[in-house]
Amino acid sequence: MDSIRIKGGNPLKGKIHISGAKNAALPLLTACLLTDEPLALGNVPNLADIVTMSRLLEQLGVDIGSDGIGPEGRVRTLKAGKLCGIVAPYDLVRKMRASILVLGPLLARAGEAKVSLPGGCAIGSRPVDLHIGALQKLGAEINLDNGYIHARAPQGLRGGDITFPTVTVTGTENAMMAATLAKGETKIINAAREPEVIDLAHCLVAMGASIEGIGSDRIVITGKDKLHAARHDVVPDRIEAGTFAMAAAITNGEVELIGAKLEHLNSVSIILAEAGIDMTETSQGLRVRRMNELNGTDVMTEPYPGFPTDLQAQMMALMCVANGASMITETIFENRFMHVPELRRMGANITVHNSSALVRGVPMLTGAEVMATDLRASVSLALAGLAARGETVLNRIYHLDRGYERLEEKLAACGADIERVAAAA
Ligand code: EPZ
Repeated sequence: MDSIRIKGGNPLKGKIHISGAKNAALPLLTACLLTDEPLALGNVPNLADIVTMSRLLEQLGVDIGSDGIGPEGRVRTLKAGKLCGIVAPYDLVRKMRASILVLGPLLARAGEAKVSLPGGCAIGSRPVDLHIGALQKLGAEINLDNGYIHARAPQGLRGGDITFPTVTVTGTENAMMAATLAKGETKIINAAREPEVIDLAHCLVAMGASIEGIGSDRIVITGKDKLHAARHDVVPDRIEAGTFAMAAAITNGEVELIGAKLEHLNSVSIILAEAGIDMTETSQGLRVRRMNELNGTDVMTEPYPGFPTDLQAQMMALMCVANGASMITETIFENRFMHVPELRRMGANITVHNSSALVRGVPMLTGAEVMATDLRASVSLALAGLAARGETVLNRIYHLDRGYERLEEKLAACGADIERVAAAA
């Protein structure tokens, strides 16, 4: 397994191009199942999770071609002309939980879908009961047997009222996609409002869907008999942008994040300003630099537009070298502090009490050999390595490759002393 070697201490300076958002591209890819006409997607990031999802869609009968280069880079065209299967198998779903996103569109298009239950992952048990309940509200008959969700709607889906007791991003996305082909009107109450959900809604409208309340927690969808071809560019990745903003801050550098949108990072910019970091809009994106000392500040993760759970680990790495203390509370997932023991090995002073971590800033971290456990924990260790004295070796970086396109190249181009070390054959 490859690893990444970092020698800390270099301030990041320069421009970083922000790729298309992983968590927008994944549902957008599955939206192709809703029509037999081509869906052309631009700005799709080149990530392991995108490859996994593409492989799953091809197993279902989707033709995926690359139509050269559009304004936002490579354009992929997906055509679910004639589906040849309705099963998302365990060996693919266990690798990537987002495979659950084929459930809603496949059921709506084919009248049946069999998707392996994703099971838990490093950050939590990750149930999908809300996805199942939502589709049952649209008339689906659902059985759970042999570790699979078997959903049927032989007469097609019908509109219904769905209220999510907890905000669920992919739950909202599955329900929204299914409702676009259901007979009648569907209301989704307490819908997720993440920019990636909004991006999917805009693409569905471009495909002919009728969706009101986009971006609010109350979405109303009027089902159509059919959707049609469309062209859509994936929204820039706010989590990648936030990650690189914190990389600039922890190294006391200054970077411009090309393509990043401040409107998607409002809560993050407020927290970073409290910590002494300035994020300013430029004509091409966002400029990030530290204004003076780095100060500890408190953070609580919440559904959008609150502080994103996907930036919690990165913020913790930053607070490890701030002046004073910070309390970081994780309210979305029950086990998202896997980065703490590894940060402690680099000299961090962190005490965890249930869902809160008290971080007492230290003057300097020291490099160490550390292990990645999940996507965002991995990148928080890379950030710590960028600021630490000495060398950090980050193992199991396949976690990183799931969500960050060419991370070491983008950081090296801004002056980081970082390289990918291929595993001995
Ligand atoms: C999406 O996961 C993202 N993944 C996650 O990003 C992100 O952390 C998460 O939303 C929260 O923002 C994709 O979009 C592919 P949820 P999702 O359903 O949809 C509970 C990353 O690092 N819940 O919003 O799976 C759940 O346990 C990944 O890029 C149920 O109880 O998250 C959690 O506590 C990690 N039952 C809360 O809701 C359900 O049926 C929010 O989860 C569904 C969710």
